[in-house]
Amino acid sequence: MSNKPLHVVILAAGKGRRMRSDLPKVLHQIAGKSLLGHVVDSALELKPAKIHVVVGHGKDLVIDSFAEHACNDRLNWVEQTEQLGTGHAVSQALPFIDSDNKSANVLMLTADVPLIRSSTLSAMVSAMSSSPLALLTALVDDPFGLGRITRDESGAVSGIVEQKDANSEQSKINEINSGIICADLEQLKIWLSQVSSDNVQQEFYLTDVVGLAYAAGNPIAALHPDNNAEVTGINSRLQLSQVERMFQAEQAERLMNDGVTIMDPARIDLRGDIDVGSDSVIDVNVVLQGRVRIGRNVYIAPNCIITDSILADNVTVHANTVIEGSELGAEVNVGPFARLRPGTKLADKVKIGNFVETKNAQLDVGAKVNHLSYVGDATVGRNTNIGAGVITCNYDGANKHKTTIGKDVFVGSNSQLVAPVEIEDGATIGAGSTITAKVEANKLAISRGKQRQIDGWKRPTKAR
Ligand code: UD1
Ligand code: MG
Repeated sequence: MSNKPLHVVILAAGKGRRMRSDLPKVLHQIAGKSLLGHVVDSALELKPAKIHVVVGHGKDLVIDSFAEHACNDRLNWVEQTEQLGTGHAVSQALPFIDSDNKSANVLMLTADVPLIRSSTLSAMVSAMSSSPLALLTALVDDPFGLGRITRDESGAVSGIVEQKDANSEQSKINEINSGIICADLEQLKIWLSQVSSDNVQQEFYLTDVVGLAYAAGNPIAALHPDNNAEVTGINSRLQLSQVERMFQAEQAERLMNDGVTIMDPARIDLRGDIDVGSDSVIDVNVVLQGRVRIGRNVYIAPNCIITDSILADNVTVHANTVIEGSELGAEVNVGPFARLRPGTKLADKVKIGNFVETKNAQLDVGAKVNHLSYVGDATVGRNTNIGAGVITCNYDGANKHKTTIGKDVFVGSNSQLVAPVEIEDGATIGAGSTITAKVEANKLAISRGKQRQIDGWKRPTKAR
């Protein structure tokens, strides 16, 4: 690899008219991350001196979207006030590189080509040791709309001609420009100063530097990506959906290579940093998002959404369960139709059944909440059984309060535990009770009215 410092320039100023959207194109998402976010993350893997992002349309929205990004300080936002073309866009960034380094390699990326891999980019930077200009090109079935690579009699790259400027012979060329170009800073400045807007779109094309470099006798390197998906650009909603599926297919393949069974790779969506252990099985229509860690031999049934959570080995998640911000121990069994909200921590062998909601709740080993309950702001001890329809009344309209339940407790069905309240180890709550005060260890608390029977009672009849 060349030892000159590397500067990345990402072009992201265009409106993306073909998206027909109020949102700047580069903020549309693939797998829950913006197009620009994907490109920035790939570029960061090269550890460049700086990443210069050229912004224009919706620039405030674009810049704000990176406020929380861990590497925000590595980004230099460059404004292009008028979108006069890709060459003009790169020119806006050069003064920032110049002030730091007289000699550098400049890797130019476009924000609408999101699946580019850092390994491909680093191969381009390596190619800079033998030529001052490297292009990433691809052979495609349908080159329509893209810049075409022209070559001379010897087969050397001689230029790029845009679709709108191409004659009928050039239109037949199926080697296309990915838009990703790497150049020596000194040379790039000279070439860009010679680019004119004398073309059909009256824009300053970055692609014109190729013909200029060739005319000056420079060798031009042309590399191909391993897979054409890497260089698929997004200009429309249709292409957005196609690239989403390409990306999802790649991720499903990664999990399968890790030893995970995926019932249908076309019906899974992974949106984030996802890790799944071997011999786990993921059924159809499952969405995993954020940071998700799933252990070995876990089964996730159809239609589950799991966000920012950790599942240990041998967990079973039944159908239609929603889990967020939760930690599940080994052999936990959840759902169907359960909802685990943030702060839920289930120790090993806990069982959460259908229509149960938990929030900020810690359940110890072997605790069971099998049907139709709400357990919020609560701790539940070992082997405690919470019957059907039990509610922790944690909210008094202004503040949240805690319910503390010991081990081996039995809470009868349809009871309300009015927090703050404590139920000590081994206590029993009779069904239908409203518990408002501490229940002592091993005692039975019951608060419902005593059953009466009224003799000779007659049901009312309808008045005539
Ligand atoms: C461009 C290339 C084309 C290549 C294709 C690959 C040029 C002239 N053409 O065409 O050879 O095959 O990408 O996807 O470079 N942008 C700015 N400022 C501008 C204009 C564009 O920042 O003034 C940004 C856009 O936001 C976008 C990128 O540059 O991220 C490319 O612009 P776009 O209009 O999509 O160019 P293409 O027609 O796709
Ligand atoms: Mg484009």
